[in-house]
Parts: sequence; C-alpha cells; structure tokens
Amino acid sequence: MKKRYLLAPGPTPVPEEVALKMAQPMMHHRTPQFSAIFAEAAEDAKYLFQTKQDVLILASTGTGGMEGCVTNLFSPGDKVLVINGGKFGERWGKISETYGLQVVWHNVEWGHGANAKDIEAILSEEKDIKGILVQASETSTTAAHPIEALSKLTRDRDDILLVVDAITGLGVFNLPMDAWGIDALITGSQKALELPPGLALVGLSEKAWKFNAQSKCPRFYFDFKKERKNLADKTSAYTPAVSLVIGLREVLKGIKEEGLESVFKRHDRLARATRAAVEAMGLKRVAPDSPADSATGAFVPDGVDGGKLVKSIRDDFGVTLAGGQDQWKGKVVRIAHLGYIDTFDIIIAISALEMALAKLGAKVEFGKGVAAAQKILMEGYQ
Ligand SMILES: Cc1ncc(COP(=O)(O)O)c(C=O)c1O
Repeated sequence: MKKRYLLAPGPTPVPEEVALKMAQPMMHHRTPQFSAIFAEAAEDAKYLFQTKQDVLILASTGTGGMEGCVTNLFSPGDKVLVINGGKFGERWGKISETYGLQVVWHNVEWGHGANAKDIEAILSEEKDIKGILVQASETSTTAAHPIEALSKLTRDRDDILLVVDAITGLGVFNLPMDAWGIDALITGSQKALELPPGLALVGLSEKAWKFNAQSKCPRFYFDFKKERKNLADKTSAYTPAVSLVIGLREVLKGIKEEGLESVFKRHDRLARATRAAVEAMGLKRVAPDSPADSATGAFVPDGVDGGKLVKSIRDDFGVTLAGGQDQWKGKVVRIAHLGYIDTFDIIIAISALEMALAKLGAKVEFGKGVAAAQKILMEGYQ
C-alpha cells in the first residue's frame, strides 16, 4: 500500500466535499436548475477576479483561455509584446504567431520577473504595440512578473491592453482586475480553484471589449462575444462542463466565505515555509528575487539527477512534485503550494524531498528542512 500526495502545480488536489458534489447524477444544461448554478458560479467568479465585469466560463483548459484572448482581442498583423520568462511566456508568443500577430519577444532570464522599466522603454520605442501578454506566475520557473507595475503602463492608454495569464496566480495572490486595470485575466480550474482540469475562466475589461469589437482574428469555438451574450441568459454557447461548473460554484462559495485576504495569507504562509525549508536544506532557489506564492523551485544538489529525484519522490515515497522543464530539465524540483494544500502537505513534501535525496546518496541532515518549515507554519496556529 502506498498513500499518494499531490503537490504539483496543477492538477492540484480536489477536496472530497467538492468531488462528491460533482459526483451527483448528471443534469441537463438547458434547464432552470443548471442555469441557476451557472449564474451563481459566474457571479461569484467576479469576487475572485475582483471585477464588476462578466467572467466567462469556458469548457477548456487554461490554454484555451489564452488562445481565446489572442483571437478575440487582436487582428492578424497587430503587434504584441510577449514577456517570455519561461514555457508559458513562450506559449503566448506561439499562439500569437499562429494567428498572424507580430510578436515583439521580450526574453527574461529564467527565474526572474520582468523589469517594468525595460517594458516602459520598449513601449516608448514601439508606439504601435497593442498588447502586453504576460504571466502573473510563470509556473515553469516559479517566478512572478510585476503585474501592478505593468498595469500602470497600460491603464491610462486606450490603444493597448494588458493581458494576464493568471492560471497559477488567481486565487493565490492579489490581482485586483478592476483596481489595477488589468484588461484580460485568465485562470484554469485545476490550480487554485481546487477542481479537475477542464474549465478556463476569463474576465475582460471594458477596454478589452472595445478591442473585441474591432478584432478580426478567425474564431469559432472561443467567441467571447457569443459567450457573453449567452451568459446574460445564464447559459453558455455550447454544452458546458456541467460537473465542473457544479464544483466551481462550490469552490467559489468557499473562497467567498474564507475571504480573499485570508486566501492570499494562507498561500503566503505556505510559500514562505517552503522557501525557508529548501534554503535550510542548502538548496538554491530558482527564483530568488521574485518568487510566486504558487510554487517553490530549487536546483537539486550537484551530482543528483533531478529527473531521478522527482521519480523517486513519486514512485518510492508516493509524493508527486514537479521537475524542471527545457533548460532546467533534470536540474530542478518544484513543490506546489496552491489550492487545496495545507500545513501538513508541506511537511510531507519537504520530508519526502529530504528522504529521497538521502536515498539518492546526497548529503542530508534529516529534519532540517522540515524544522525550518514548521517554524513558519506555526504562524497559522498562534
Ligand atoms: C502559467 C500557466 N499558463 C498556462 C498554463 C496552461 O494551462 P493548461 O495546461 O490548463 O492549458 C499553465 C499550466 O500549468 C500555467 O501554469
């Protein structure tokens, strides 16, 4: 027997109560009963997004929300600035190029957040940039980009949008869409929303809806105008992911009850504890100066194969973490702490990391990382 634990940056664990709600007999989506659930979820999503605008609920993974933003807000030939600090920044560029947009690539060294001053300089050089496409939390490197500072560059201009992939940011740290003037904000169900994969949620500002009216990219399934019209009738254009929407309503109810401030505090505490733990173990963090609260990454010790380490933690110890991608493949371990993750999940993850490192022959002082985490985790009980 092996008990399993999931601390990867998505999918994240689903609370049993939510899973049970989603297990109820299937209901038809064109019914007043389902419409009420759909409308309630869409209304409560506004709280999560900190917006008065509609939040679209799409049957898709997060990438569909990203693609929908490109095709619904821009036109072929439009120039967009892509902040490329990892795999998901790169994805913004690939989607944009697929639809014939002109991409200005701004490469950021992996593990770092973009510098808003550099972006300001690019915008003053290239006055025809119509959008900045960025991640709130670049999951592949565990670094956060400075969304508030970027929003100050775009919010008072009517010719440029700030489009934020917050797939591992929303519901983790503060991203007030209306207050900061974020024009498009995207999340996915399998991260902080504690649900299985399959939903993308997208909020658009009034400015973004004006861009939508001018946008000429081809689109069919992801047609935000059509979805918004349907949302006004408490439904979606196509068959919604019924069970996931039922789960979404449940999770959003919980987030509202807990309050966003507590949700952010909870993630902040787990993130600080995990960072302290890996540092106490003598590991070098991969995003030292702008870590996101969604996951913590660290370089594995010299002589240890990161791929084997992650495999051993999963297969020998039953704990699923994430490794590094691309240039960091085999070099990095990432521990996620977003969504339905609490104090003792962190203890388990750190403890498993210590034990797996020892199993692979690394020099480990048992309990050092765990003790460092415990010191910070205690804050939640005082
Ligand atoms: C920051 C970020 N953007 C985009 C994605 C892609 O989302 P999905 O796999 O749901 O399409 C992910 C998934 O991990 C992510 O973390």
